[in-house]
Amino acid sequence: MSKYIGAQMLEFSQKGDERGRLVIIEGMEDIPFDIKRIFYIYGSDKNVVRGQHANRKSKFLLINVAGTSKVRVRDGKGNEAVFSLNRPHTGIYLPEMMWKEMYEFSEDSVLLCVSSEHYDPAEYIRDYEEFVSLVNEQGV
Ligand code: TYD
Repeated sequence: MSKYIGAQMLEFSQKGDERGRLVIIEGMEDIPFDIKRIFYIYGSDKNVVRGQHANRKSKFLLINVAGTSKVRVRDGKGNEAVFSLNRPHTGIYLPEMMWKEMYEFSEDSVLLCVSSEHYDPAEYIRDYEEFVSLVNEQGV
């Protein structure tokens, strides 16, 4: 799955009929990792900023399955992008070692986070300067 080189928006097919719509996401089929963990964020609002960390190991897929939010992504080498999450069949793929901030949550926002790893607080980098040093030292 070498086409997944950086943070990018993915669009998933919607199966629909008169009963409603269905989106299917399979590990190593629709996203470039096997799924070990899901969690979801709701009850945040437009003034909250979440995330503000990078992960040494975890890859993520973020989808607003309801409502909207924004995700700002930085690679620590001077590149950044802002993604708007506003449709239940689109999501952002984030490889490891990306700084991420989620913000501007709508009142009805439910942000689904799908991860390649079990939770391990030791693989979270929560200091931006440390993240930048690691990226530039390691040449990641
Ligand atoms: P945190 O990483 O700060 O959330 P966010 O990135 O959305 O701002 O996590 C909030 C709390 O939940 C923190 O105490 C760690 C805990 N947590 C787990 O125990 N397991 C998990 O998988 C996640 C994502 C968080």
